Amino acid sequence: MGKQRVLSGVQPTGNYHLGNYLGAIRNWVEGQSEYENYLFVADLHAITVPHEPKQLASDTYTLVALYLACGLDLNYSTIFVQSHVSAHSELTWLLNCITPLNWLQDMIQFKEKAVKQGENVSAGLLDYPVLMASDILLYQADKVPVGEDQKQHLELTRDIAARFNHLFAQPDRPVLKLPDPLIRKEGARVMSLADGKRKMSKSDPSDLSRINLLDPPDQIQYKIKRCKTDPIRGLTFDDPERPECNNLLTLYTLLSGKTKEEVAAECQDMGWGQFKPLFTETTIAALKPIQEKYQAITEDKSYLESVLRDGREKAEAIANQTLAQVKAALGYSTPL
Ligand code: TYM
Repeated sequence: MGKQRVLSGVQPTGNYHLGNYLGAIRNWVEGQSEYENYLFVADLHAITVPHEPKQLASDTYTLVALYLACGLDLNYSTIFVQSHVSAHSELTWLLNCITPLNWLQDMIQFKEKAVKQGENVSAGLLDYPVLMASDILLYQADKVPVGEDQKQHLELTRDIAARFNHLFAQPDRPVLKLPDPLIRKEGARVMSLADGKRKMSKSDPSDLSRINLLDPPDQIQYKIKRCKTDPIRGLTFDDPERPECNNLLTLYTLLSGKTKEEVAAECQDMGWGQFKPLFTETTIAALKPIQEKYQAITEDKSYLESVLRDGREKAEAIANQTLAQVKAALGYSTPL
């Protein structure tokens, strides 16, 4: 039996942070030899909120370079850009026509983002999860490794696929595969440095709320020095009254490679004055190899272009096949 297929992506909206890394990218890297991986830059999603055209292409290249710097290996993983494969847009239209409007109106992320946009909510923002479903279903993905915040979109993807199969396929010959989310227990919800009850986010206006993968050491040190803590001595996991403490200990665990038990024992008698320098040093050391590799890769634009050219070719071969099956099931004639 062949390997199972993994598909996932990140939006190229700058400020790639520890949440993106620990919730998604690092898990892609760790599991990559086990699967056949399709990992992409979700640049069509990036324009569902107001964006800066001059920034889009450079953010896309930065993200591709970061994928490679974090350890994606082209022997196992295909890296491509969503807008380079036109089947993503086309399948979105087709699936739009079988997706009930109220399924989209119920999406938590839509409601949250719509509030922030005020009068300027685009139809694209509402439709975002159908585009995401198309990304996944085009590749007949078995597994989709993401952070906790994408869980509802994955459930919707399964619902759309099931509805399509029910309406347009024979029960024993489904056209679209129902994917499973792959959400790790630890790191699936990294919280803001400024508020342990809010998730770390690219779009938070305060840069102090997150540690970005490309932050230089002095900035990491400054952010950790300023991050929110509590006045209690002795650091513990899982205390609902201490969300910041749980978040920082979890980050320290994931970045140091120690177990939760080891960290619990190490930190149980510590105060913040002792923990913060330790956490700072660990974070800087964990990001150093990524930053060094990133610097080397990002200067070689022609290499990045060749990665994407290759990626596009491989992605298109699969995506176009699924698109043709969907169109046939819907009753479209093949072009002459
Ligand atoms: P995006 O760009 O918001 O986030 C990329 C990945 O990072 C995860 N993530 C987090 N994980 C833990 N803690 C956090 N604070 C945190 N913030 C973000 C996200 O869960 C995600 O896995 N719609 C997606 C991109 C996308 C996609 C797809 C993903 C488009 N099509 C198809 C999977 C499959 C998004 O906006 O992710």
